[in-house]
Parts: sequence; C-alpha cells; structure tokens
Amino acid sequence: MSETLRIKRPDDWHLHLRDGEALKTLVPISAGYCQRAVVMPNLVPPVTTVAAAKAYRDRVMAALPDGQSFNPLMTLYMTQETDAAEVRAASACDEIIGIKLYPAGATTNSASGVTDIRRLEPIFETMADYGLPLLVHGEVTTDDADIFDREARFIDEILEPLVNRVANLKVVLEHISCRNAVEFVNSRDKLLGATITPQHLYMNRNAMLTGGIRPHNYCLPVLKREEDRQALIAAATSGDQRFFMGTDSAPHVREAKESDCGCAGTFNAPVALAVYAEVFEDAGALDKLEAFTSSNGPRFYGLPENADHLTLKKNSWRAPAKVGSGNQQFVPWLAGESLRWQVTGT
Ligand code: DOR
Ligand code: ZN
Repeated sequence: MSETLRIKRPDDWHLHLRDGEALKTLVPISAGYCQRAVVMPNLVPPVTTVAAAKAYRDRVMAALPDGQSFNPLMTLYMTQETDAAEVRAASACDEIIGIKLYPAGATTNSASGVTDIRRLEPIFETMADYGLPLLVHGEVTTDDADIFDREARFIDEILEPLVNRVANLKVVLEHISCRNAVEFVNSRDKLLGATITPQHLYMNRNAMLTGGIRPHNYCLPVLKREEDRQALIAAATSGDQRFFMGTDSAPHVREAKESDCGCAGTFNAPVALAVYAEVFEDAGALDKLEAFTSSNGPRFYGLPENADHLTLKKNSWRAPAKVGSGNQQFVPWLAGESLRWQVTGT
C-alpha cells in the first residue's frame, strides 16, 4: 500500500491571485488545497483602501467554482499617504488581515510603495495599537545594494530599528530567503513571524542560472546560496511557530516571464504542497509538515486552525506544462517535472 499523509487543511499566508480573467484560472487552484489565503494587494492600481479590498474580495469569490470553499483574507497596500483612519477601518473589517509594505521599486507593481519608512512611524504605531499586522517585503532598493544582499541589509538597516522602536507591532517578514533572516526571526519574540516559499526551500541560485537562464525560477527576493537554503529548511522543519507556509505563488503570463526583461514571480500554486512535502521528507521531518502548513500561521494571526483535512499520497506525478487558455496561459513552476507527493483528497 502506498504511503499517505493526512494533515489539517493548509492555508496560504502569502498569495498573488491577480485580477480580471486570470481569477477564473487561479482561484480554483489555491482553493483546491487551501482554506484561507492572504491575498496580496499589488494590483494595478494597487489596493490601498478598505473599499477597494472588499471589491477585490468580491471578484475573487465570484471566480470560485461551485462546491469549493475558500476564504480570501485581504491586505491593503501601504503608500506614503496611508492614513490612520484607513488603518482603523481596516482593523475593524474582518475580511482584512493586514497591511503590506513594499519598499518602492522592490518588486512587481511596487512603484506606489513606500519611499520613506521612517515617516510612516505614526501609522505603524496605530497598527500596533489596533493589533493590525504589518506584512513586509524586506528588501532595500538603493542602487548600491547588491541584489543578493538586499534582504539582509533591509533587516539590519530598516526592520530591526523599526521593531525596536514600535513596541507591540506584529510583523510578518514575507518570503524569507537568507540565513540572516532566519537568525533575525529566531532572535525575536512571537510578534515577528515569517513565511517561507517552496522555491526558497527547494532550490538555490544555481537553479536560476545554470545551463541557461531559467525565468520560471526567478522571483524576488531571488534564490540565494545553498547555505541560505539549508537555514530555511532548518527553520521550516523545526516546528517553531514563527515560521509558516506562504507560497508567494506569483503568476505572470508566459510572454511576460519568457522575455528579455522577464517579470519576477514563481507560479508555484499547482505544486507548492507537493514540494513542501518533498522538502520535509528529505529533511526527515514529515511529522512537522502540518505545523508549518496548517497550525503555525493561524496561531500567529490568532485564528482557529481549519477543521477539515487533506490527504497526500506518495505517488509520482508530473507538474502540468501550463494552465489557463487563450491570452491567460501560465507556466507553473517545475512544469513537466516529476514530483513525489500528490494531493488526493480530503
Ligand atoms: O517574485 C515576486 N513576484 N516577488 C514579489 O514580491 C512580487 C511578486 C509578483 O507580484 O509578481
Ligand atoms: Zn509576494
């Protein structure tokens, strides 16, 4: 009999669902294995108000097929103009889980992001007062910053001083990618959590640049060295409640990825759970998978764990070569490659 693994239904604490036609392709994939997802606000234009977030949530729910259940938890996009009234309104809205900070220029659709974090300190104080978490894309953007050092520098120059100054601010350092980030989270208390993507656990930067440029392995923060990957694996598989699943699945249509200036983003939703299971198995830590995918995130956000379950079977299958149709075709991360664990049911 083949091996099976039964875990509480996961949640994706960091997900890009995009908008418009793409929702019909993307929403069912994540809803197929997650109950909740923290939906990123970096649309064009960005989702900066409670009203816009609610309208976006309605469009996501309208794309959900009959019979699937899904609870998108929305985020607001912080700009230099975000004010205390919007923070209060967001904290009073059950459908909004936090505010996302993109340093301006750090990544896809971050042009309206924050240029002067220091000046937003009163807003962070208000967020702390209302218990509204700050979700951070942690990379500096100055021209002199080497792309492989951007996360470590953000932690040293921006994040550590910020959390030291603003007491009680709940922060999620999203998609951590380097050893310094793991060490930083470990050095703090339960107010600081971190999401980890499947690609940062599964690959190092060689996978992006060896044998040719591999655009589907390119995301931001970029994949780092093997020693960084090992630190991330140790953190994810430790069972420590501060580390939890956030896929950062970030689809772009094929032409936007396979281009002379390809977009950052790894569309991993079709394979994310299978890859996490592989990584945990290889680390001898399958018994910690459920904590990472299904328990630590709700605990950080003060939400209940999901009541239902998901079963994975040890059964070799191939990641799809593409999903979607017409002008909405997306190439999944690891397209065509063989994976060991397959989601088989509830
Ligand atoms: O690779 C990335 N893609 N990183 C981000 O931070 C944004 C995302 C996107 O929206 O495509
Ligand atoms: Zn993201």
